[in-house]
Amino acid sequence: MSTIKNIAVFTSGGDAPGMNAAIRAVVRTGLYYNLNVFGIGRGYDGLVHDDLFAMDAKSVANIIQRGGTILKTARSEEFRTVEGRRRAFENLQKRGIDGLVAIGGDGTFTGASKFIEEYNIPIIGLPGTIDNDLAGTDFTIGYDTAINTVIEAVDKIRDTAESHDRVFVVEVMGRDSGLIALRSGISVGAECVLIPEIKVDYQAMMDRLDRTRKNKASRVIIVAEGDDAGGAFVVAERIKERFPHYDLRVSILGHIQRGGSPTCMDRVLASRLGVAAVEALMEGRKGEMAGLIHGQVAFTPFEKAIKHIGAVNDNLLRIVDILSS
Ligand code: F6P
Repeated sequence: MSTIKNIAVFTSGGDAPGMNAAIRAVVRTGLYYNLNVFGIGRGYDGLVHDDLFAMDAKSVANIIQRGGTILKTARSEEFRTVEGRRRAFENLQKRGIDGLVAIGGDGTFTGASKFIEEYNIPIIGLPGTIDNDLAGTDFTIGYDTAINTVIEAVDKIRDTAESHDRVFVVEVMGRDSGLIALRSGISVGAECVLIPEIKVDYQAMMDRLDRTRKNKASRVIIVAEGDDAGGAFVVAERIKERFPHYDLRVSILGHIQRGGSPTCMDRVLASRLGVAAVEALMEGRKGEMAGLIHGQVAFTPFEKAIKHIGAVNDNLLRIVDILSS
């Protein structure tokens, strides 16, 4: 028998498509179990500044298909302080909130761990980030939409690159993770993919560009924002030094990757995990992220979820190599 009566949900860190579907699932599941559900505006910042409001079934109507987050999001400096967290706890106490659902990435879960350590408040996390850089889930909410946005954009770039016999260096998001670059790179038939997890082998890259020239009019190199080369412009300069005759262009895809209507995969993932998060709070779980592992809901402690070790699948890089010729 659950003792939870009042829960609150918030989104934190960088937004991701599917966050709204997750909010909707949390609110509707809470109401289904006769809980009072609150929303918190602007993540931890709203918690510190008492931006809490009651939510009902209507407040989440017509949002499953919308990108962004209706609750808004922020990266809060104040919540990093002892005083900030004290104020946040007092705001929860005022309303008798006895469970939280935190939707975000590693920064969100680091904050949640600290909050639990100090105030023992039950928190369940949902993986909301386009980067897919969390352990304990095959995919994060937003990743599928983001990589589909990338492939739509790069397919268009390929059309013009092919018409002009050009080489394009395309930068995608992923400050600490190459998973957007890797999967979208395979999908667009990229000739090279550069990611933060692997040191750039310029020699191999130049050799491949030279070799593939025989079979291809255009070449596309996908560079993750956080790659160790220093970004797309640096990579382009190095290529230009080696092959001054190449007609070379750089394209930075930027924040279009964070917006847009979530794909079916992201909507279903967010819906399943939203239901699981509320039920987990009712079962007395806390300090864990709900994810999907091999298609089944699984819970991973925050400390483990944020240590995304061994995320890069070498086999995917091998596939880029084999198929780029
Ligand atoms: O964490 C998601 C992410 O999209 C990263 O890939 C990227 O580096 C970062 O957010 C950029 O965030 P912002 O522009 O909001 O600071």
